[in-house]
Amino acid sequence: MQNKIPSFILSLWLLLLALPSVLCRAEDAAAPEPESQRYEFREKHDPDGIGKFYQGREIAHVMGHQAADWLERPEREEEEKPSLLLDVLKLKRGDAVADIGAGTGYYTRRLAEKISTNGVVYAVEIQQEMLDILTNKMAGLQIHNVKPVLGTITDPHLSPASIDLILMVDVYHEFDHPHAMVESMVKALKPGGRIVFVEFRGEDPKVPIKPVHKMTEKQVRKEMAAFPLEWVETLEVLPLQHIIIFRRK
Ligand SMILES: C[S@@+](CC[C@H](N)C(=O)[O-])C[C@H]1O[C@@H](n2cnc3c(N)ncnc32)[C@H](O)[C@@H]1O
Repeated sequence: MQNKIPSFILSLWLLLLALPSVLCRAEDAAAPEPESQRYEFREKHDPDGIGKFYQGREIAHVMGHQAADWLERPEREEEEKPSLLLDVLKLKRGDAVADIGAGTGYYTRRLAEKISTNGVVYAVEIQQEMLDILTNKMAGLQIHNVKPVLGTITDPHLSPASIDLILMVDVYHEFDHPHAMVESMVKALKPGGRIVFVEFRGEDPKVPIKPVHKMTEKQVRKEMAAFPLEWVETLEVLPLQHIIIFRRK
């Protein structure tokens, strides 16, 4: 018995000594990767990109509001078939939709019509100038179910679990902080809500768009793997763009 008391105290002492390191390791495993470590910066890079890389691809420059007319070019109908895109999204009357990176509202106004007056489209932009153009266009067209939202490069400023479908047409590849943006967008989706990436096909050299402004399906799916999203389908019905659809788990 006399021998057992010191060995019991010794074991307890050793356990107390080891405890902080065990707790630290558990904390490390649970700690999210810091935002700064998610990105790599390279001096040599594509002039159309910002020199910041995420999971191996370079992030593109944001399209400035000075080029807003390009978004309203008449030949866009033929090149992108917006009505075909809107049809395959199978939106319902009354849905709450977010058009992230809405630009001049080319897709916003089509979404607004599709979900009817009892639905709502949040038109999210980081450029106030784009939102001003969009707001004037909606007023001119007597569209009243669009709410313009000024977001930031990390947060679209949407309420949690409020959105049925998030649409990004030709936008995701420009996100300065793609990880933070997707994290916020996923939180804004209702359970089962969908997030849709429409990106010019990076796999196809015949698509006449600068390389950093295109994305491959593989890259989009790789980047979404870190989030509570399940891939639903990739539709190849548009002339130049992928439609890549995920659902919030
Ligand atoms: C190429 S334009 C596409 C506009 C619109 N989706 C269309 O197809 O007509 C990309 C837009 O995304 C916006 N954008 C870029 N990063 C954004 C972010 N983090 N949040 C919201 N909008 C963003 C830009 O300001 C720009 O107006």
